[in-house]
Amino acid sequence: MSIVFPQGFLWGAATAAFQVEGATDVDGRTDSIWDTFCRVPGKVVDGHTGEPGADHYRRFEQDVRLMADLGLGAYRFSIAWPRVRPDGGAVNQAGLDFYKRLVDTLLQYGIEPWPTLYHWDLPQKLEDTGGWAARDTPYRFADYAASVVEALGDRVATWTTMNEPWCSAFLGYAAGLHAPGRTDPVAAAAAAHHLLLGHGLATQAIRAAQPRARVGITLNMYPVIPANPQDPDDVDVARRIDGIQQRIFLDPLLRRRYPNDLLVDLEPFGFTGVIRAADMDIISAPIDLLGVNYYSEYYVSSAPGVTGPSPWVGVSQLSFPRRDMPRTDMDWEVRPEGLRSVLMRLHLEYPRLPLYITENGAAYQDVVSPDGIEDHDRAAYLASHLWSAHSAIEAGVDLRGYFCWSLLDNFEWAEGYAKRFGIVHVDYETQVRTPKLSARWFARVARGNALVAVS
Ligand code: FCB
Repeated sequence: MSIVFPQGFLWGAATAAFQVEGATDVDGRTDSIWDTFCRVPGKVVDGHTGEPGADHYRRFEQDVRLMADLGLGAYRFSIAWPRVRPDGGAVNQAGLDFYKRLVDTLLQYGIEPWPTLYHWDLPQKLEDTGGWAARDTPYRFADYAASVVEALGDRVATWTTMNEPWCSAFLGYAAGLHAPGRTDPVAAAAAAHHLLLGHGLATQAIRAAQPRARVGITLNMYPVIPANPQDPDDVDVARRIDGIQQRIFLDPLLRRRYPNDLLVDLEPFGFTGVIRAADMDIISAPIDLLGVNYYSEYYVSSAPGVTGPSPWVGVSQLSFPRRDMPRTDMDWEVRPEGLRSVLMRLHLEYPRLPLYITENGAAYQDVVSPDGIEDHDRAAYLASHLWSAHSAIEAGVDLRGYFCWSLLDNFEWAEGYAKRFGIVHVDYETQVRTPKLSARWFARVARGNALVAVS
């Protein structure tokens, strides 16, 4: 039996510049905050930097051919700000040329380019002047966006401004787990607003240069489940986390205001002080689609558990009780029904917005044998989530596409190279690419536009 997706459903795979490109010091590129962060001992688990990674910068043609072999209709990649405007300054033609070559190669193979303008690689120079905590940074981002759109707007139909601003703001500036590694909740709250402002200003820049472009943003969505729904403290912790994880972005983007309860929660962190009235019009300018990244659920209780800096600014005490659930190699619970739940929520609470799953996937320890990589676990993860997504479509959700994370094994941020998310295996010594069983299965799904059994 197969489960058929709507006609025209878009099938793709995703990567991000710093995670796959390597070649961090060629053709004029300068450091991003991730280059700097990687050099701080202990920040990246296995001590690796983004170099040489999967060497996608030099091997993109081969990688595009691979995508074509897998029958993919679209490739979600990100553009590196420090290639296009090194140090956040003047435009670097050599940086733009790389993305022109990539986009042209994709088009040549009939694969839709689906670029993201910001997947976390802020030029270090801009961090030195305050990073996302500074009000100037969104304006620099809009300048950068304008230069990219000017160069590629004739070949790219759909733009994503930002990937997961929650991670940039709160993992980067409050928890210190991501670059730039700051543990300053006041800066994190300011960063969240400035990332949204950057999205809005970039959207203006894109529309000015390319009136027919489709513009969206990608958020990472998690259902937040109170451990004991009868316990008002658990319910309150869940509300706060949902506020700072999801509604802090959804409401300004789609309802032109921050939620009142969030403003109260963030009051001690000077949040309202960074918001100017005119910002809300810029941030809430209509978008054409919303990207949803989904990996797991949060299951939270008010029992004290968090020690040290938390990404949930204003939630001082909480714990993540352990459930007896299957987990991936990231120790993330496998919760396919959570995907349906976030899609349904968006459909009901923020209606009339086309949705795309821009990331979904799993890290597992792969066993490489002479016969290949038989990653049934990863394929089963993808299949169960696609089933869940399909059930949301049947319930009326306007879901138009699905990108698996990731096309290639790559640099998993603070986890380094130890975690493998690719449907294609990368041997980092030889740079040999080997499609795993999950890739062969995903190709059948994409080609047939239908979910088929894993085999
Ligand atoms: C997301 C990131 C992506 C990747 C996956 C596993 O949060 O957007 O770059 O690392 O997680």
